[in-house]
Amino acid sequence: MIFSRKSPLIVGMDIGTSAIKIAVGERRADGGLTMLGSHQVESRGVRKGEVADHGEASRCILQAVQEAEDVLNMEIGEVELALTGAHIESGNHRGTVPIRSETHEITDEDVREAVENAAACVLRGDGMKVLHVIRQQFYVDGKDGIANPAGLLGSKLEADVHCIHGIGTRFLNTLNCLHAKQETSMEVSNGIFSGLASALAVLNKHDKELGAIAMDIGAGTTEYVVYVKGMIRQTGVIAVGGDHLVNDLQLGLKLRSRKKTEALIREHGSVLMDGSVSDKILTVKTSDLLTDRERTLHLENIHLILHHRMDEILRIIHERIRAQGLLEMMGGGVFLTGGCARIKGLVGLAAAIFQMPATVAVPQGFDGQMERLAEPEMSTAVGLVKYGHIKGHGAYGSRRGFGSYVRKMLGIGE
Ligand SMILES: Nc1ncnc2c1ncn2[C@@H]1O[C@H](COP(=O)(O)OP(=O)(O)OP(=O)(O)O)[C@@H](O)[C@H]1O
Ligand SMILES: [Mg+2]
Repeated sequence: MIFSRKSPLIVGMDIGTSAIKIAVGERRADGGLTMLGSHQVESRGVRKGEVADHGEASRCILQAVQEAEDVLNMEIGEVELALTGAHIESGNHRGTVPIRSETHEITDEDVREAVENAAACVLRGDGMKVLHVIRQQFYVDGKDGIANPAGLLGSKLEADVHCIHGIGTRFLNTLNCLHAKQETSMEVSNGIFSGLASALAVLNKHDKELGAIAMDIGAGTTEYVVYVKGMIRQTGVIAVGGDHLVNDLQLGLKLRSRKKTEALIREHGSVLMDGSVSDKILTVKTSDLLTDRERTLHLENIHLILHHRMDEILRIIHERIRAQGLLEMMGGGVFLTGGCARIKGLVGLAAAIFQMPATVAVPQGFDGQMERLAEPEMSTAVGLVKYGHIKGHGAYGSRRGFGSYVRKMLGIGE
């Protein structure tokens, strides 16, 4: 059966630095979400989570879409698109509105206005575009902790929001690559911060209430989202990931091939520095080296190089969260996801640096096809589908998508 564009399909597209992943879910008649499957292809033309070569990236996306359509026996018309990059910034903002009506009853319009006033703090004229305005909590005449103030009585309404924004043209560079599939004019329903999608995939309500850090360590970027008392309090991206591990090791050991270095990390990589491999040695063939003599490599040195880079990534994020005073409010722990979460010893290293429990987290909380979806690399793609589901996508057919929205904001196209 071929699904039509008006089907309740929700498609997540994650254009990652190392792989393009597509996850597909379906809104059930009872409103729930069933995951149907996934597909991934190696990506080219993407660096540090952003498109660096339009032609290469477009061809890969086209290949990923066509293969996914064949493998999953469906037609992709609209996608939820992951967006990331070091240009993305975020912050917490407060907006206020006086409640002037005679009854003092707070309306939906007042709530919207308070949120808009809060978000207005980031609407600067420097090409920065807001990706998400996430409601944290409301205050009515100073009383905090209110999730939905509509219908309450008061004189002053305040809204706390978390805004995630970035450079509009950089978002557009990713968006424009989807136009290679002109024959179906694929539309983008929502542009979603990758880290937010990953957090949606791996954390449950309980984790968020306890206080949790979801960290997606990919090939080119590491995104993190911090929840305190169920609210998103901090998000961020650093342009460092597994590619740096490969660079460090390739340079440090004078290895000829990137692919073989990556394979070596997968097979022998670890960030554990507990002396357990102090006598272990690997022999590397001359043909794999930039030098002309066969060499023996001490496994401990390999682990040391990987340890230093991972330690650096974790400490940068730890310091950013510490500086916001959020670490003490964290009862849940660190949830590591993305391909690099697979590196041996990472959980222990994260637990030692953050001084809290750490775990490798995979997408959870959905029905249906689990095979190849419950993997750390798939967190962003599955989270995109969950986001589309929450936002009501799949409940109706085509509509104005995010693509046209961004273009209008930037004065490009319609
Ligand atoms: N078993 C493993 N051990 C160590 N590293 C691994 C392992 N498996 C995958 N990786 C690394 O994970 C990275 C790929 O992860 P992922 O697919 O999450 O990245 P991506 O989404 O393509 O990149 P980004 O999110 O940064 O744009 C690569 O750097 C790869 O080398
Ligand atoms: Mg990724």
